[in-house]
Amino acid sequence: MPEPFKHLVRFHTEQGLHTLEVPEYDTLCRAAIQCGLTIPTDCRHGICGTCEVFIQTGPDCLTVRACITLVDQPMEVFAGDTMWTPPAPP
Ligand code: FES
Repeated sequence: MPEPFKHLVRFHTEQGLHTLEVPEYDTLCRAAIQCGLTIPTDCRHGICGTCEVFIQTGPDCLTVRACITLVDQPMEVFAGDTMWTPPAPP
């Protein structure tokens, strides 16, 4: 069975930058755990919003729910207020 394609994911935290190659279609929550980070969760089904993080892909910054967001491209990830503070918008 071939190796899954991987994307570079960078988690920006108050403690610094955590970079990891993540298998395609893994969730951001599972990727964070592999970095030793915990994104707060509750429902784990994309309903409650507890796991909201910000991702930057190119010039756009989007709010997504990490428990259901799949890694399908290189991502810069900034967590919400409960975990770390995202950078000020440009
Ligand atoms: S944990 Fe509820 S939306 Fe992700």
